[in-house]
Amino acid sequence: MNYMMHAFERFGILINDRIVRTPVGIASMAGIVDAAYVLERAGNIGFAFIGGYAIDAPTMASAKSLAAGGDRKEFLYEDPVEELKVQIARMEKSDVVLGINLRASSPDSFRSLAKALGDTVVYEIDAHCRQPAMVAAGCGEYYLRHPDALCASVRALKEEGVTVSVKFRVGVADDDPALAAALWKAGADILHIDLMDAGSARLRQIRNSCPLLIIANNSITSFDRMKEMLQHGADLVSLARQSDERTLAGLDAAITRFADEEGWYNAPKQLCRGGDIRALAFCCMPVKECPLIPTLARIGIPREEYIQMKLGAVRGTPLDHGSQTCFGSLAWCCKNSTPCMFRALTLKQHNISPKEYMRLKRELSETIMSRVFP
Ligand SMILES: Cc1cc2nc3c(=O)[nH]c(=O)nc-3n(C[C@H](O)[C@H](O)[C@H](O)COP(=O)(O)O)c2cc1C
Ligand code: SF4
Ligand code: SF4
Repeated sequence: MNYMMHAFERFGILINDRIVRTPVGIASMAGIVDAAYVLERAGNIGFAFIGGYAIDAPTMASAKSLAAGGDRKEFLYEDPVEELKVQIARMEKSDVVLGINLRASSPDSFRSLAKALGDTVVYEIDAHCRQPAMVAAGCGEYYLRHPDALCASVRALKEEGVTVSVKFRVGVADDDPALAAALWKAGADILHIDLMDAGSARLRQIRNSCPLLIIANNSITSFDRMKEMLQHGADLVSLARQSDERTLAGLDAAITRFADEEGWYNAPKQLCRGGDIRALAFCCMPVKECPLIPTLARIGIPREEYIQMKLGAVRGTPLDHGSQTCFGSLAWCCKNSTPCMFRALTLKQHNISPKEYMRLKRELSETIMSRVFP
């Protein structure tokens, strides 16, 4: 098996129909992160967003004025399509899954770029930039104050059949979870979230409001912080300012080792320990007063339906076993980080390794997510 297939077995991540080798990547920095920057670090990352690139007259004028102001670097060119074609071509032979971070002020600008460049890259809408000149041009944070305009641009790109990411900072829109849900409904594929210092509770709220792939960003420079993000709903993490080889290589090695040991590299914490709704895969039968009951009420799944959903999802799979466990099936059993003799015995009897157990719980959580977010 080649190493990309190994990577798929290990992490199970696809973006734009391509295998992502590792859930560590590079976030854009205007004037700095281009194909050359990414290729220098390609051995330690799975994905990268180059840019941001201004792609229409208002945003290109803003980029020029920012660069002329002297305190910001910007990518400047006469023709954004030509420039992006050159950058994309440089990445052609790389395993790094490529995205382009874009500043544009109208759905048509995104649409015509997608027509010109095609679907080999992820299109990331920059709803993040807070430079006044960009916001005045109708992009960056402008979109967070005008979510309808943002959703219109997502829809325009989706009509061209491309994969869409939205990059934004939390705490700017009126309601981040509502924004996430609206972006999902508009067709977005990826949320690339700068969490600032909001912490993992905000990330969990967003995870609980949509089934999209989530990239967590901001100061994720240690494995502890990376794990914190992965346990609260992130699928991947990105780095910008500290995207040096040493930091990226450290995170890549640590998460690879962790995945090989544990099986489910971004398993949530249990619900009662602050986990997101993917943690329903580890929840008991609803028989006591605990965070499960309000969670089911919030997502609108009646108790009986939850029971049937989990039992139905494991029927015919190895998680069907477990007559000696608390609730008669491994479907209700806890995360493997909670030691339990009964679960251990059941797994041993049926020749299921702890790693395989976590892989099966991941499958169960995916089924649950698709039921919660039909
Ligand atoms: C110099 C610089 C330029 C940036 N340019 C962009 C940009 O063009 N588009 C964008 O979405 N984010 C941009 N960002 C934000 C970063 O992608 C990232 O969200 C932020 O720096 C926080 O992540 P970090 O702590 O890993 O740096 C920029 C950040 C810096 C420092
Ligand atoms: S059902 Fe069990 S695992 Fe889930 S929140 Fe309640 S006590 Fe915790
Ligand atoms: S048998 Fe063990 S792992 Fe399963 S639900 Fe009971 S305590 Fe949790």
